[in-house]
Amino acid sequence: MSESAKVEISRGLENVYIKATSLTFIDGEKGILRYRGYDINELAKNAHYEEVIHLMLYGELPNREQLSRVKDTLNSSYEVPEDVLRVMEVLPKDSEPVALMEAGLAALATHEKGFKWKEGDREKALEIIGKVSTITANVYRVKEGLAPKIPKPSDSYAKSFLEATFNKSFSGTETSMMDNFLVLYADHEVPASTTAALVTASTLSDMYSCMVSAITALKGPLHGGAMEAAFAQFREIGDPSRVDEWFERNIVKGGNRLMGFGHRVYRTYDPRGKVFKSMAETVSKGEARKYLEIAERLEKLGVRYFEAKKIYPNTDFYAGIVMYGLGFPDYMFTPLFALSRTLGWLAHVVEYVDEQHRLIRPRALYVGPGERKFVPLDQRK
Ligand code: CMC
Repeated sequence: MSESAKVEISRGLENVYIKATSLTFIDGEKGILRYRGYDINELAKNAHYEEVIHLMLYGELPNREQLSRVKDTLNSSYEVPEDVLRVMEVLPKDSEPVALMEAGLAALATHEKGFKWKEGDREKALEIIGKVSTITANVYRVKEGLAPKIPKPSDSYAKSFLEATFNKSFSGTETSMMDNFLVLYADHEVPASTTAALVTASTLSDMYSCMVSAITALKGPLHGGAMEAAFAQFREIGDPSRVDEWFERNIVKGGNRLMGFGHRVYRTYDPRGKVFKSMAETVSKGEARKYLEIAERLEKLGVRYFEAKKIYPNTDFYAGIVMYGLGFPDYMFTPLFALSRTLGWLAHVVEYVDEQHRLIRPRALYVGPGERKFVPLDQRK
């Protein structure tokens, strides 16, 4: 029997399980998402990001003492070597924001000496989560031509990040919007970015290299870039009165993808999308309100049109409106996704290396020509 007769290729690794996990459970038919058993709606309503960090890295929601240890470690991790911020500053101002973030992380990796897995992995992950806040805040500051800033220690990771980014104070409501965003995007099992991080971890490379692999996979429009792409549609439409005509021309007749819709795992509404929609309803004023109205009309048309294919809004559909309402330009949406997902990436690589490590080395089925005789250059036609 030929090799090709025996082998079945799973395109896009659909329904292939690459690891066991106690981190995140998804029921794609029912639209359920849980972190270590806790429903995402309950966590978004009640838990702060630091509590979710402890839950994901150490297995349980923290008690007061454990929580303050997490906060102390984060607060003491915001500092980065000066050259890291300088690297980001000297790169072209029109660099893609995610590329700037990659550069910042790669610069941090140059300071990483003698990293060894299983020697304080979780503490290392906490340190990286702290430093990613600094890198993300400074993606915005570099893009806007502002002087670099290190987040100041505070009682809240979300607050320190917002204040460093914009150099101003935020209300409790705004800070908790940021906090909710961080909780909602913290993990989602093994999408492309997490899988990329796992491939890198499987070679026993270091954690910063896992981060760089994950971010490069995140930025495409089919994954983390979808939040910005969804928002670009709202901008292009420009006014709620133009949604129907836009949808007919671009989606029905044009056959284009509706960004912020569809998911490999969910066959119903993404539960995170519902939370973001209700958050958008509370923040949206002015321009953001207009984009919300456009999105709501687009959702109605999309859900009806794609009903048979079971394609529904995903988390990226409304999240951008919430972040825009908080004051972020849309170029920051993918870096914000990466800021939050750093937790999921690192929790998965730690779980994998600690408990079930094996080099990830799949196969490709050869379908090219059989054995051929080499022809010297001057004899080739
Ligand atoms: N608009 C129009 N058609 C779609 C869409 C969409 N958003 N999503 C899927 N389809 C259609 C697709 O054309 C195909 O149709 P057919 O069977 O007739 O050829 C069918 O649904 C299956 O699509 P697929 O691309 O094979 O399915 P997938 O599991 O690879 O899709 C996806 C997942 C996320 C790539 C896709 O839904 C998509 O491109 N969505 C738009 C981009 C997006 O919003 N991405 C964010 C994903 S969720 C959060 C995140 O990762 O950031």
